[in-house]
Amino acid sequence: MKVGIVLGSSRSVRLGERVCKFILREADKVPGADFQILDLREYGLPFYDEAIPPQANPARNPSRTVQRWLADVASADAYVFVTPEYNFGIPGVLKNALDFLAYEAEGKPALIVSYSDNVRGGDLAGQELRLIVSKLGMFPLPKSIPLGHAERLFDESGVLVERSDWGARVSIAVPRLISDLVRYAAALGPIKAENPTFRPLPRASAPAPL
Ligand SMILES: Cc1cc2nc3c(=O)[nH]c(=O)nc-3n(C[C@H](O)[C@H](O)[C@H](O)COP(=O)(O)O)c2cc1C
Repeated sequence: MKVGIVLGSSRSVRLGERVCKFILREADKVPGADFQILDLREYGLPFYDEAIPPQANPARNPSRTVQRWLADVASADAYVFVTPEYNFGIPGVLKNALDFLAYEAEGKPALIVSYSDNVRGGDLAGQELRLIVSKLGMFPLPKSIPLGHAERLFDESGVLVERSDWGARVSIAVPRLISDLVRYAAALGPIKAENPTFRPLPRASAPAPL
């Protein structure tokens, strides 16, 4: 099983790297899954600009850059979305990347990990992301943990260094959530296999009467 860890910040200096490294460290302890970081900075995606929405366009011909992102998303069985909060929402770079998706992520579970450099842990962004991934057909795990003061929780290598009760809670909750994600992905796999991966929505030929 493959799990993609989507790093939602593309800033040249970013707290998100520590969070990702921590998730990866914890993920390595979970049997039965290979975890890979999908770093939005590395993809260098253009601004989304397609005439027809991806979900309604079977004849789509994306650029190689976009194809690479779509292929990596499609090849994963589950996702961890690591997102900061920018102005009470998810970063534009993450929303832009998600806007490219058609059915690549459909039917797969997603763990949402928000973080911030303050006590709120980016929870508003996490909630917003929950709605967006649902629209894209993913199953967001019901539980998540907003990582408040991530700059104190982790050092630059992603080692959990916070010795308070909060640090202890994170050390228990995150591995548990990652295990949950893998178990959900295993359970959803057979259901997903029965469905075609690309299902354009039927288009009404005339507007429905009011
Ligand atoms: C443009 C911008 C907007 C921000 N808006 C919020 C916000 O609405 N809520 C919040 O808790 N933190 C906010 N922050 C602070 C972030 O939590 C903090 O900068 C964090 O390090 C961002 O993650 P990154 O370094 O991985 O990009 C904002 C930061 C930036 C750069």
